[in-house]
Amino acid sequence: MQEAYNKKVKIFMSGASGALGTAMQNLLRRESINFLATDINQLDITDFKKTNTALLNYRPDVILNFAAMSDVDACEENSEQAFRVHALGSMGLATIASKIGAKILYTSTNFVFDGESEQPYTEYSEPHPINEYGRTKLLGEHYIKDLCDRSFIVRTSWLFGMDSKTFLSKFLASKDKSPFIDVICDQFASFTYIPDLVEALFVLLKSEHYGTYHIVNSGIGCWLDFALKAKELMNFKTEIRSVKTEELRLTARRPRYTPLTSTHYEFLFNQRMRTWERALADFIKLTTQKQSQ
Ligand SMILES: NC(=O)c1ccc[n+]([C@@H]2O[C@H](COP(=O)([O-])OP(=O)(O)OC[C@H]3O[C@@H](n4cnc5c(N)ncnc54)[C@H](OP(=O)(O)O)[C@@H]3O)[C@@H](O)[C@H]2O)c1
Repeated sequence: MQEAYNKKVKIFMSGASGALGTAMQNLLRRESINFLATDINQLDITDFKKTNTALLNYRPDVILNFAAMSDVDACEENSEQAFRVHALGSMGLATIASKIGAKILYTSTNFVFDGESEQPYTEYSEPHPINEYGRTKLLGEHYIKDLCDRSFIVRTSWLFGMDSKTFLSKFLASKDKSPFIDVICDQFASFTYIPDLVEALFVLLKSEHYGTYHIVNSGIGCWLDFALKAKELMNFKTEIRSVKTEELRLTARRPRYTPLTSTHYEFLFNQRMRTWERALADFIKLTTQKQSQ
């Protein structure tokens, strides 16, 4: 049954060279699923004409829209481009999905919330973004939802894993480890291990349970908690220094508190997202094994 599904389905992916896209390609290969993986060099989703032609040719059953300007400060500095990628790019893909009867899955962010809550955000919490990244990602959500009936919107938060842009991945990859790392201590959110996320996305895209989902590992923390846990698990010497967001003078405002609960996903699919600490321990174990090979 599963094998038959995998043989039949065709998946198109945008933003496929990013951290999430790379992990999803690995999963699809493992499952022997046909897919077309593109990134900005092959197919810029802000070029509707080309995107339309490519997708009408390929005729996927599922469109995964992972293309993003994931640098939050760059979005603030170039909000026009952030709007084009997140909002217009999504509008184009949703329009095409609707035309060819495909499902579409769009990854969104905890930054659609303002961080003023005292409680973790659920799927039915009211979004209110405070920066251009969040604002344009939210517009993308609206286009996806309004233009395609067969759509999944998946908000996730603070991805970590291979190829991600977190300090931990950079730290693990660098040979000359610096004597210290400055880590933010006053923003709180959920962490998400990329392999856990792609497994969940795969469950979702095979279903007909369309709608809005939060998918994150359970538990709440700041990057300082994450760094200290990584240090404990890896036993490295690098000093971890705590910094406040305002000391970094970042261009874009950051919400203070945006943990998410994976309520819809856990309920509808009878799943439990594991804690970020357990996922981090797995990630570190895997990376250390790879390095020693
Ligand atoms: N990373 C996180 O912590 C996080 C948190 C919440 C939500 N998300 C969401 O999760 C998704 C995947 O994130 P990620 O971490 O994998 O991001 P990523 O590593 O930055 O990957 C995004 C990819 O999209 C590409 N891209 C940018 N503009 C494009 C365009 N116009 N057409 C086609 N491709 C384009 C990027 O290319 P360039 O690198 O060359 O620009 C990059 O390869 C995104 O929707 C993001 O908003 C991520």
